[in-house]
Amino acid sequence: MDLQRISEVDTEPGELPRTMAAWVIRQEREGEPKDAFQVEEIEVPEPGAFEVIVRVMAAGVNFNNVWAALGQPVSVFRYHPQEDHHIGGSDASGVVWKVGEGVTRWKPGDEVVVHCNQASYEDPEVHGLDPLAAPSQKIWGYETSWGSFAQFTKVQAQQLLPKPRHLAWEEAASYGLTYFTAYRMLIDQAKLQAGHRVLIWGAAGGLGVFATQLCRLTGADCLGVVSSADKGALVEQLGARGFIDRSDYTGMMRHGGESAEQEKVRFGETRRFAKAVKEVLGDSPDIVFEHVGQATFPTSVFVVRPFGKVVICGATSGYNLDFDVRYLWMRQKQIIGSHFANAWECNKANQLIEQSKIRPVLWRTMPFEQVADAHQLMHENRHAGKIAVLVGATQEGQGRTAEGPGAIHAEVGA
Ligand SMILES: NC(=O)c1ccc[n+]([C@@H]2O[C@H](COP(=O)([O-])OP(=O)(O)OC[C@H]3O[C@@H](n4cnc5c(N)ncnc54)[C@H](OP(=O)(O)O)[C@@H]3O)[C@@H](O)[C@H]2O)c1
Repeated sequence: MDLQRISEVDTEPGELPRTMAAWVIRQEREGEPKDAFQVEEIEVPEPGAFEVIVRVMAAGVNFNNVWAALGQPVSVFRYHPQEDHHIGGSDASGVVWKVGEGVTRWKPGDEVVVHCNQASYEDPEVHGLDPLAAPSQKIWGYETSWGSFAQFTKVQAQQLLPKPRHLAWEEAASYGLTYFTAYRMLIDQAKLQAGHRVLIWGAAGGLGVFATQLCRLTGADCLGVVSSADKGALVEQLGARGFIDRSDYTGMMRHGGESAEQEKVRFGETRRFAKAVKEVLGDSPDIVFEHVGQATFPTSVFVVRPFGKVVICGATSGYNLDFDVRYLWMRQKQIIGSHFANAWECNKANQLIEQSKIRPVLWRTMPFEQVADAHQLMHENRHAGKIAVLVGATQEGQGRTAEGPGAIHAEVGA
């Protein structure tokens, strides 16, 4: 396929071309992202009832398609056995190109961003509990194919949000998955309030840059954990009271299978870390924002204050967590699991972006040719904030139709 022409589409809104270029993972290629992703020509799907085909102008890169490429901890083909291709991509900005039967809120030509939660409207959980509780719930572009690393993507109409007009396509494509996840974790699950103290792991990463901004906006004090002084400067710019460089605490990280003696040493390092946290925040945190998992979870449970909350949505370093449960029950702490966000939360959170109260944090915008490279960089933890990929947009800065501050550019990392 001629990737130089990726931004060109032969049809007008309302009509779909027969095929499109897409970055595709296939089961037999699962492995390092740079090898697992390949560009293929794929038939453009028709929208079903209550579905919409969006022409992708820019896509956002997330850790979930690092997992998809690796085939770890499970192969994504288990989630969508009906397709033998996986078109990943759980963030997009773009233009509504064709709507399916029953869609009335959106029409061809509308400019949108996409949230990544799907569920069947027939599940009762969707109508009174939460779509995240529905048996049909899936993350678009991870547990489904037809994600945003392609010229067109297929989504449910409820996934669409108005594109913030002051943002360029790449800025608008960059924030959804991680920002909406952080919003639910802090605002709805952990009930973040002014005056709270919050410890944020990976504060310069995709989730962390939004968790930090949400704390600042709410009037909470937060401390970011990062792995370099550059990243520390970024999180302070975003509103953190301070940062801790985790390179100074490598002995605190849990690897699993530590001997009693090693565990004693590790625990000593945890106490040293807890003291440093108190020095920055003034006291132990009310909330710990977790997604690192095995390496940090015992520290999170220890360091959070009595009756405090550890809210967790991921496990980059390993998903088998162990910790000393005495610190949980004796001090009546809570562990809260959280996963993405529902459409209501996404809409509320998106309004804060429209008002520039929360801003995207872009590390790099890359051309469509570099989707695999972008995931490799993320896998190697060489990025900060978010990475966007241009698809229909020919260069950065296109798509803005109103004045506004746009994204914060993160000048750190590789
Ligand atoms: N359930 C959900 O809805 C959901 C949503 C979003 C993300 N997630 C998951 O959450 C995780 C993080 O996502 P993200 O987008 O924030 O990724 P990211 O952009 O890679 O940021 C994660 C940050 O965590 C830190 N980190 C990585 N490995 C670490 C380790 N071993 N020990 C301590 N810190 C470590 C890194 O910061 P430093 O090197 O600076 O410390 C990195 O910047 C991923 O596993 C992702 O799949 C889940």
